[in-house]
Amino acid sequence: MSAFTVSDGRKRLAAHLADDPDLTEILTRYDRWAPDLWDGLAAVYDASEVLPQVVDVLASVHQDRSPALRQRDRERVLRPDWFQSADSVGYVAYTDLFAGDLQGIRSHIDYLSDLGITYLHLMPLLTPRPGENDGGYAVMDYRSVRPDLGTMSDLSQLAADLHAAGISLTLDLVLNHVAREHAWAVKAKGGDAHYRDYFYIYPDRTVPDALEKNLPEVFPAFAPGNFTWDDEVQGWVWTTFNEWQWDLNWSNPDVLVEFADIIGFLANRGADCIRLDAIAFTWKRPGTNCQNQPEVHALTQALRAAAHIMAPALVFKAEAIVGPQDVVAYLGQGEHAGKVSDLAYHNSLMVQIWSSLAARDGRLLATALSRFRPIPVTSAWATYLRCHDDIGWAINDSDATAVGWDGFGHRSFLADFYAGEFEGSFARGMHFQSNPETGDRRTSGSAASLAGVESALVAGSAATLQTALDRLTCAYAMVFGFGGLPLLYMGDELGLLNDHSYEDDPAKADDNRWLHRPAMDWTRARHDSGVAERVFASIRRLITARKTLPALHASVATEAFVTDDPAVLVFRRQHPAGTLVEVYNLSESTRVIWPGSVAPLDPGPLVEHISGRTIDLSRPVKVPAYAAWWLTAPE
Ligand code: GLC
Repeated sequence: MSAFTVSDGRKRLAAHLADDPDLTEILTRYDRWAPDLWDGLAAVYDASEVLPQVVDVLASVHQDRSPALRQRDRERVLRPDWFQSADSVGYVAYTDLFAGDLQGIRSHIDYLSDLGITYLHLMPLLTPRPGENDGGYAVMDYRSVRPDLGTMSDLSQLAADLHAAGISLTLDLVLNHVAREHAWAVKAKGGDAHYRDYFYIYPDRTVPDALEKNLPEVFPAFAPGNFTWDDEVQGWVWTTFNEWQWDLNWSNPDVLVEFADIIGFLANRGADCIRLDAIAFTWKRPGTNCQNQPEVHALTQALRAAAHIMAPALVFKAEAIVGPQDVVAYLGQGEHAGKVSDLAYHNSLMVQIWSSLAARDGRLLATALSRFRPIPVTSAWATYLRCHDDIGWAINDSDATAVGWDGFGHRSFLADFYAGEFEGSFARGMHFQSNPETGDRRTSGSAASLAGVESALVAGSAATLQTALDRLTCAYAMVFGFGGLPLLYMGDELGLLNDHSYEDDPAKADDNRWLHRPAMDWTRARHDSGVAERVFASIRRLITARKTLPALHASVATEAFVTDDPAVLVFRRQHPAGTLVEVYNLSESTRVIWPGSVAPLDPGPLVEHISGRTIDLSRPVKVPAYAAWWLTAPE
């Protein structure tokens, strides 16, 4: 029998869907994306063996897709840049901490709309293992909702309501591992060879010991090592994260077919974006650190092409918290350009914003960002100041050297500074996963506590509090003004502080990332006349201004540089829709900016879009502490 080809796949799809009213449409999409699917599969597997199975998934997912979602597909094919536009603003929330359950979220859609949100990432909500579950990232069942949050039908209803309000829904997809209670792992433990091959299991320490030589530890403090002995499988299981998170064997094509089906399932419940959790770890290559391997991108290309055929309304967001030299590949470089994830977290920008505020100096930020390779014009960075994870001080040694700093020294400074241990520090965070072997220390803490709001409230000084609030707004202005999809982390719009209540919960006490996962404070959100109201007003002002500036569309890059004064940072966006020049004072003292700094804008009166004022840059101008200005030429 001759090998199965792309055109055999088309015939198979047409046969499955012979009676489907949208047959022509899906075949047109197949013609468009099947070559990408094939190339992705062929880079890793025997594509002629895997393609027929993927085609079966495409057909069944399409059959299960509702008329409303099929219409959404048509709209998104006509507006593929929906997540890139200046109008797009994201919000990230835990369902329970934000609103109790999925029904509760439905009753808070007006809050999100009022804030200008167009994209909602609900943190892991699929059924996790009982007990400790890494904030839901140890999934036991990808096809059911965590029971206390609701049901799959609640999720579909919520998605429909969000869509009606102009809000897209993002769900997590944990690709690298499943909970050891997941049905696949249970079958492997029961001796089923088919499922045993879904995991990496070794009879003794020979291979694990060899692999460990090159593997870093993600959670050295509470989950040292990368392998865990399991009595039931009688073997060492690869467990990069916690010992109850079993890494999947993506070299087995059955794993890919399972995930193609899960992606289709979630898309059909109304997901618009899938967050590819810990994607950097999915391909293992002995002798390497087993992150960022080229096969990861081939597999993503195959999955995305499949998604575009069965549910083109869906986009992918890569969660690859890796160095600047590796992260760009997740948006597509070389043969994968424009064919992998549509969005990727800009971890470096986040780290550099915090670094620049601690140092009162934008040179390292400007140097690091200027070294980024360009991303496809169809993709976008997801920009953020805080998320549910710790901050790893990913400062590149060569970037630090370029500005005359020592990389290790600066990383240590940042860890101390944001833990509040550096003399004079405004921050109140905590160390996360201190690793005595490497000297690496990461940081937990809420945006407001890290930006100085907590220490200012303790000090009781109105002036210090104002400075801290301005610092927080300045940081968020960089996030909203960078171009790309800005993500507001739940509670940051109210300046919520660190929450120590996790220390009393045995399932959370070991993991101080819960410090910055406070529950939403609805009393303060609606009635507070202090910090919450002031932060909320500032954030809303940024969002409103952002939406009026087409130059923030993600399709062009931001240039970053400092003026003669390293504390005055400039972002410049030269977009066909107009040029936007942004000025940030990274310090608590007044600085001066000279007319030439805002080139190519002509010196003279400029419109500042956050405040609505005119700023005359025909002569040197004072820039107040932590000012953030978004400037364009007058109309
Ligand atoms: C991602 C999540 C993090 C989790 C890890 C393992 O990095 O953001 O919270 O611990 O993946 O799933």
